[in-house]
Amino acid sequence: MSLATNPLLQLTGKQQHLWNEFEAIFPTELELISAAIALGAEAVVPWSAAEIALARTSGTTTPLSKIKLSSLRDLICAGFDPLGEAFCTLRSPSMRRENGAVYTPGAIVRSMVEWAADRGTPQRIIDPGMGSARFLLQAAGAFPQASLIGVDIDPLAALIARANLAVAGFAARSQIILGDYRRFNEPVAARTLYIGNPPYVRHHQIATKWKEWLSDEAAKLGHKASQLAGLHVHFFLATARNAKPGDFGAFITAAEWLDVNYGSLVRSLVVGELGGHSITVIEPTAQPFPDAASTAAITTFEIASRPTSVVFRRVDSLRELDGLNKGRKIHRDRLATEARWSYLTRSAARPPEGYVELGELCRVHRGQVTGANDVWIAGAHSEGLPDCVLFPTVTRAKEVIDAEGILRDAANLRCVIDIPVDLDELDPRERKAVDRFIRFALEKGANKGYIASHRKAWWSVGLRSAAPIISTYMARRAPAFVLNKADARHINIAHGLYPRDPMTEKARSTLVSFLQTNISQRSGRTYAGGLTKFEPREMERLIVPSPAMLAAGVLQ
Ligand SMILES: C[S@@+](CC[C@H](N)C(=O)[O-])C[C@H]1O[C@@H](n2cnc3c(N)ncnc32)[C@H](O)[C@@H]1O
Repeated sequence: MSLATNPLLQLTGKQQHLWNEFEAIFPTELELISAAIALGAEAVVPWSAAEIALARTSGTTTPLSKIKLSSLRDLICAGFDPLGEAFCTLRSPSMRRENGAVYTPGAIVRSMVEWAADRGTPQRIIDPGMGSARFLLQAAGAFPQASLIGVDIDPLAALIARANLAVAGFAARSQIILGDYRRFNEPVAARTLYIGNPPYVRHHQIATKWKEWLSDEAAKLGHKASQLAGLHVHFFLATARNAKPGDFGAFITAAEWLDVNYGSLVRSLVVGELGGHSITVIEPTAQPFPDAASTAAITTFEIASRPTSVVFRRVDSLRELDGLNKGRKIHRDRLATEARWSYLTRSAARPPEGYVELGELCRVHRGQVTGANDVWIAGAHSEGLPDCVLFPTVTRAKEVIDAEGILRDAANLRCVIDIPVDLDELDPRERKAVDRFIRFALEKGANKGYIASHRKAWWSVGLRSAAPIISTYMARRAPAFVLNKADARHINIAHGLYPRDPMTEKARSTLVSFLQTNISQRSGRTYAGGLTKFEPREMERLIVPSPAMLAAGVLQ
């Protein structure tokens, strides 16, 4: 057994001596089973048939001496996990990969339990895939009144968990269930903490019936699930299904789900039912998973809570795990529209006190692409069209730049022709003029091309609603912003800024003044030739005054 695997704590000299003694204690799994039983595993109920059978297999081994058992007890009571370490040594990483059995370093377990202790007092604690019960043991100390439930499919892990809980004196309030966590369902009124390290098992090893389970159960909650999702995604869903408002939790998993397509179910659950509070990404340098060089993410949540923002952070050493509530706040609505999340942990610079990222206040949307401006921007060719299909629109960056902060009048703007998808909405006179125009557009081939053929109806450009603030995003100068008093629409040469929460006229105008004077070309991405471009997500990262400062009209 190697100490390097992952001791929970620093050993004292005496403990180190004891630990070295154990190197030879567990040559095979039989000795481990025998030790678990001798340490009192039976005291934790209910026992499963598989565990009873396993326990019988160890009958032929030489029992451990009293001294050795007593030393094992000492180590367990001191917070070490000698049985869990022996398990990880006896089973190679590739054997354990089958069930995703990678046990969690003590520093991570402690930080997650500390987060839970700050959030409230559960009456019940569930560890899905409890392994050797590291989370239950730590949480049992933090919540002395709570009942403890561990669920795992591995009978050997179950025996070890029982022994650990018995030695630590928690047998009476513990329950170990041998079974699949996706089948676990014991609803109780008691406030429950879900805490653990759901197994990482790739989709190739997941049976078709469970993939169907994932899709069906996700659909019941109104979400889509990918067949490529790993087992940890199944555990998130199983938790969202079983938990009730007020329950809370913290899971550590591989971080992939933050960005990949199959992770969209977890992202939807975090924004929705699970009520995500924080996401802390742990770099591989910190070795979050001792025998896998992967990035981890700790997700904390409180069921059905709808926090305005979720906190994102990235750490590269376990020493930095000094609280899971620190980091960059990202508005929940913004998360709902982001397809990738991990970049959110890479804040270039934290906004100074009193400032936030623009994305916290506004969604930024590029304007609609018409597909053929010579057809869809009104002119002589569209004379006779009714006003109901003509929308004054910002169609040139110059119109924003020249307005110098306020777009007061739509009179100088050109109109975009936006015909309803359902032509029956038009009255007979309007319909006649529109039909004539549609014939003209067909002659011009405006129904062809990628954009037109991917619209609901090729004749309907589908402009976005008028954005309260409009900006340029590509120029050889800093972007220009205008307060859109003209209710103008915008096409894809401009971005629209749409406040997430209601924003007074004064606050909008202060925001525009700030953006007009404080944003430099350097904040965007500069291309060869000096052209600077701000993609919507990049614009959302601009640092602007907080809502309080904007409401007060304060500019610094
Ligand atoms: C990543 S380990 C975590 C162990 C422990 N909670 C810890 O953090 O140290 C995942 C555990 O989930 C168990 N497991 C795998 N598939 C499972 C399933 N379908 N239901 C319940 N447990 C499962 C594995 O046997 C393994 O013990």
